[in-house]
Amino acid sequence: MADLFSRGEYPQTRLRRSRQHDWSRRMVRENCLSVDDLIWPLFVCEGDNSREKIPSMPGVERLSIDLLVEAVGEAVALGIPAVALFPATDSKLKTEECLEAVNPENLICRAVHAVKVAHGDKIGVICDVALDPYSSHGQDGLVRDGQVVNDETLEMLCRQATVQAEAGCDVIAPSDMMDGRVGKIRQALDEANFQNVQIMAYAAKYASAFYGPFRDAVGSSKNLGGGDKRTYQMNPANAAEALREVALDIAEGADSVMVKPGMPYLDIVRQVKETFAVPTFAYQVSGEYAMLCAAAEQGWLDRNAVMLESLTAFKRAGADGVLTYFALDAAKWLRET
Ligand code: PBG
Repeated sequence: MADLFSRGEYPQTRLRRSRQHDWSRRMVRENCLSVDDLIWPLFVCEGDNSREKIPSMPGVERLSIDLLVEAVGEAVALGIPAVALFPATDSKLKTEECLEAVNPENLICRAVHAVKVAHGDKIGVICDVALDPYSSHGQDGLVRDGQVVNDETLEMLCRQATVQAEAGCDVIAPSDMMDGRVGKIRQALDEANFQNVQIMAYAAKYASAFYGPFRDAVGSSKNLGGGDKRTYQMNPANAAEALREVALDIAEGADSVMVKPGMPYLDIVRQVKETFAVPTFAYQVSGEYAMLCAAAEQGWLDRNAVMLESLTAFKRAGADGVLTYFALDAAKWLRET
């Protein structure tokens, strides 16, 4: 390294020289955002022709299945490769045992089916596997004596993954952070003849305060109350542990891994990509989106500029793609330029 940097010195070397012209800046550009890097998370609700605003996520709405199908059509037209669907389950269906999660006729299964009927293989559909949209306590797993229990939860997650695959889901994304879930889900999918359904593991998912607006969107924040997810999601102070999580998920059969949240964890994205060289995704989560939008609404930041800069930063960190609520806007911008 020392040699590398002693090669050129001012005034022979002027890094500003290659920054003088647009063509030259383009020529030396190292990373480029493309529409293929974008995964669009969407929220689905019951109803017909109905859309509900989510106050903490300006510009994002819960959509009934018919409108969801239309929205996914926009993504298809722009060339977005995949969408991630999340259900806002009726609170009356949320219980301790989370049985709605494994109901083949639940909202998410109907939504996946409708999207696949309308758009087929033109776009991939990703579904979370975790119990929080269905639990009366807002936790991702089953609760016994006040504890989120691991092994009993795994059985539910396997059933949840299977009904979602039956509905037509292309990629199962376990976001629950239970130990051993990727291996168990892989086995359950294979046994049900879904060898080709992929697993994108939320491998390094942190117990983050940046998920607040998402919990508003799926209606789990009230249920969670003062609770937190620190007995299963990772401590934001840890990095080496993220590599162990990723190693386990790959060994258990994950096709791709994810780091979440995104912007505050780009160091983890970089380490995961360099260490494992597997498809590595990052989730620019609801709180990151809300932060940028709120500042833009105040006129303090330029929405478009921070959107593109933040998404490009994921690429620079080594991500192969980003789950982002900006996906549609970013894809439109990329198409125009
Ligand atoms: C559910 C889940 C969460 C997110 C994705 N899947 C919330 C959580 O773990 O509490 C967060 C996404 C976001 O904030 O945009 N397990």
